[in-house]
Amino acid sequence: MLVTVLLLLVALSVQGGNGEESQESQKPGHVSVVIVGGTGDLAKKYLWQGFFQLYVNQVSSGNTFSFYGGGLSPVDTAKPIFFEILKAVSCSKDVSEERCAVLKDQFLRLSQYLQLKDQEDYQNLAKLIKEELQQEGITEAGRLFYLSVPAFAYADIAEKINNSCRPTSEAWLRVVLEKPFGHDYRSAQVLASELGNSLKDEEMYRIDHYLGKQVVANILPFRTQNKKFLDPIWNKHHIERVEIVLKETLDVKGRIAFYDQYGVIRDVIQNHLTEIMTLLTSKLPMNLSSTEEVLRNKLDIFSSLLPVGRNQAVTGQYQEYKAAVQQELNKTKDHISLTPTFAAVLAYVDEARYEGVPILLISGKMLDERVGYARILFKNDIFCVQNHNSVHCKPKQIVFHFGHGSLKYPAILVSKNLFKPVLMDSEWKEVTEHTDVNVLGLPISDYYVQTPLEQKEAYSELISHIFAGRKNSFINTENLLASWGLWTPLLSSLALTFPRIYPGGAENGDLLDVRVKGKEISFNNEVVIIGSDQAGGASAKGFQVMQGKFRSAEMVSAWSEELVDRLAADIQAAAEAAVREGGVFHLALSGGATPLALFHRLALHHFSFPWTDTHVWMVDERCVPLTESESNFRNLHDNLLQHVRIPYYNIHPMPVQLNQRLCVEEDGGALLYEKEVAKLVNGSSFHFVLLGVGYDSHTASLFPGSKVEEFGERLVVLTESPAKPHQRMSLTFSAINQARTVALLVMGKGKHELVTQLSRAKDNQDKYPVTGVKPKDGRLVWYIDYDALLG
Ligand code: BG6
Repeated sequence: MLVTVLLLLVALSVQGGNGEESQESQKPGHVSVVIVGGTGDLAKKYLWQGFFQLYVNQVSSGNTFSFYGGGLSPVDTAKPIFFEILKAVSCSKDVSEERCAVLKDQFLRLSQYLQLKDQEDYQNLAKLIKEELQQEGITEAGRLFYLSVPAFAYADIAEKINNSCRPTSEAWLRVVLEKPFGHDYRSAQVLASELGNSLKDEEMYRIDHYLGKQVVANILPFRTQNKKFLDPIWNKHHIERVEIVLKETLDVKGRIAFYDQYGVIRDVIQNHLTEIMTLLTSKLPMNLSSTEEVLRNKLDIFSSLLPVGRNQAVTGQYQEYKAAVQQELNKTKDHISLTPTFAAVLAYVDEARYEGVPILLISGKMLDERVGYARILFKNDIFCVQNHNSVHCKPKQIVFHFGHGSLKYPAILVSKNLFKPVLMDSEWKEVTEHTDVNVLGLPISDYYVQTPLEQKEAYSELISHIFAGRKNSFINTENLLASWGLWTPLLSSLALTFPRIYPGGAENGDLLDVRVKGKEISFNNEVVIIGSDQAGGASAKGFQVMQGKFRSAEMVSAWSEELVDRLAADIQAAAEAAVREGGVFHLALSGGATPLALFHRLALHHFSFPWTDTHVWMVDERCVPLTESESNFRNLHDNLLQHVRIPYYNIHPMPVQLNQRLCVEEDGGALLYEKEVAKLVNGSSFHFVLLGVGYDSHTASLFPGSKVEEFGERLVVLTESPAKPHQRMSLTFSAINQARTVALLVMGKGKHELVTQLSRAKDNQDKYPVTGVKPKDGRLVWYIDYDALLG
C-alpha cells in the first residue's frame, strides 16, 4: 500500500515541499512516527498539523511514512477522536485544493491509533513496524517518538521504547520531549539521569517551542548577517537595556493542577525567555548550523550570568487566581497560593561586553495584551535642540517581534536611526506599506521592518528540524541543567514571598510597572490592592523606624530592611561629616552574616558615598588566608569593596598571615595592625565602628572569658574563639571605645533571647563581652530589628 501511495503522490507533487530536508545527509527510507498522547491537547492543536506538514514536504523526497497515535485509552474509544483530529489538518496556501484533498486522504490512510499502555503494547508496535517494513520491502530510515504526555511518564515510556522499539538496522531513533523538564535543578537532574538510562543524548529532542518561532530562530542569523553594523554597538557602551517580554491576556483556568506547582518563572521564564536571552547574548558561532558550537556558546553564557538575587525579581498574581485554585484543587476558602502568575526579573551577564547592562525578563497572565518581543534599547546621546520629532532623537532600538501585539505579525524591526539591516533571506520580505501602528514608542514608519513571506507554526518548524536531525534548536542536558542552576536559587528564595495581587487586563494600569534601581528591581508604585487578605501579609512592614533606649544608650529599631537602610544612611552621614571636617573617614567593619545586607545596601544604593576619602579597617579577623570564604575580609571584599570605587591603599585587612603562617604571636601581626592604625588614624580614634553581637554575647572577637582587662592599652590582639576557626585577631575595647561612633547591629528572631537578657544584664565584660562597649567620648547606637527586639 505504501508504495502505491508514494507513486501517486510523486505524480501529484509538482511543487510539493521545499526540499530542504532532503538535502540533509541522512538516507531516505521509511519513517515511523509515533505520538504518545496522540489524542491530547497539544497533539490536537499543533502536532498532527506539524506532521502533516512534514508529510506534504517530504512526499517527493523518497521517504515513506507511517503515523501512529498512541494513548492509554482502548482503541474503540479513542479511534473516532483520533480521526476527527486528523481530519482537521490543513494545507498551506500554495497547495491546490485538489492536491490537498489527496494528501489528506493518504495521510489518514497511513495513520492508525494504538493503545500504548504497557510493555506488551510497545512490543506490538515494534512488531507492526517490522511487518510493515517487510511487507513493503523498504529500508527503514528511522523512528520518531513524540512524547506528548505528562513529564512523570517520560522515564517509564523511554524505558519501554528502549526495551522494545529500537530500530534494529542503522536507522535512527529520535524521542521528542515537551517541557516541563523538572521543576528545579535537582528534579531536572534526576529526570535527565533516568532518561539517560534508556536514551542517548543525541536521541533526545527536548522541545522549547519558542525556538521554532520564526523570529526567534532568526536571532542568531540576524546578528550574523548584520555583524558589521552590530559589532560596534552590541556592547555595554551602547546598549541601555534588553527587554524580553511575553505578555498574555488569558488566565490559567483548567490548567491549575499543573500551573499551581509551576508558576510563571518555571512555565515560561526558565525556558522560553531564558533561551531568547542566550540567543541575544551568546558569542556568534563561526558556523550557524553547527549544533555543537551554538549550544556551547549558549552554555558559556549560562556560566557568565550573575546569580539572580531575591531583590532582582518581583512577582504578582491575578486576583481571580486564588478562587480558581480553591475550585480546581478542591481547597477551602482560606487556602491561598503563593504561585506567581506575573514576574519581572533582572539579570546581568558578567562579561566585559555586557557588564552592567540590565536584562529584563517579564511575563504574565491576564495582562492587557498578548504580545511577545525582545527589544534591544540603545543609548541615544543626541539631543535635538529644535526638532524633537527628528528621528535622531527618538529611541534607537531593535525589536524582535515574535507575534501578536499591535503589529499582529512576526517581524524584525530596526529603528531608522540605527542602520538598514540586511534582508534575512528569500523567505523574508521587507515591509514598506504600513498601517498606522506604533511599536514600543515609535510609529512603524520609523522602522525598517522585515517579516517572513509565509508565517509558519513553531511546532511544524521544529518537527521538520527533528526529521532532519538538526539539533541546534533543541535543549541538551547541559544547557537544561545550567538554566535550572540559574533559576533554582531564585525560586527557593521566592518560595515564601507574597506576590502582588493584580486585577487583570487593562485595569492593572500601572500597578505592575517596575523600576530598575542599582542592581535591583522593584514595583514602581507601592499601592497594594485592599480587599485581598493576601495583601495584609505583605503590608505588615508598614511600621516606621522607631527611636528609643537600650541599655541606657540610643537605640534605633525597625523591620530589617528599613533598619539597614537607616544604618547605611547614618554611616554615609558620618562619612560626609568626617570628610568635611578633616578630609578623611575611618570606618572599621565587622564580619559575619549580619552586616552583609548593610554592605549590599552601601554598594548598590550609596553612589555618592565618599569612598575616595574613606579608609576601611577590620574590627576582627579569622586566622585563615584572606582568600578563604571564612575570612571576614573576603566577605567584605565580595559584598562591598569590589563594588565601590575605593582606592586600594585605603583598604586595611588585618595581617593574619605572615611568614607563610597564620596568627603566630612572634610574627607580630597584631602589633603591625596597631601601628598602622596609630600611623593613619588621628588619636587612633575611628570615626565609625560597626559591631555585631554573637549568641554568646561576644563582640568583635572578644569572647566570654577572654580576660579583656589583661589587654591593657593594646589596640589589637590575638584571641581564641570557642567556635572554629579558633584563632582570631581583634580590636580591643581600648580601640573600640576610642571611636567617635560605635554602632551595634543586631538582627533576626534568633537574637531575641539574647536581646532580652542583655536588656537586664549588668555590665560584665567577662560574661557578656558586648557590655564592655562604652565609647569614652563618642556615641553608642544600638540598631536592633523588630525580629530581634520583639521576637
Ligand atoms: C507555554 C506555556 O509553554 O507557552 C503557556 O506553558 C504559555 O503557559 C505558552 O501560554 C505561550 O506560548 P505562545 O506560543 O502562545 O506565546
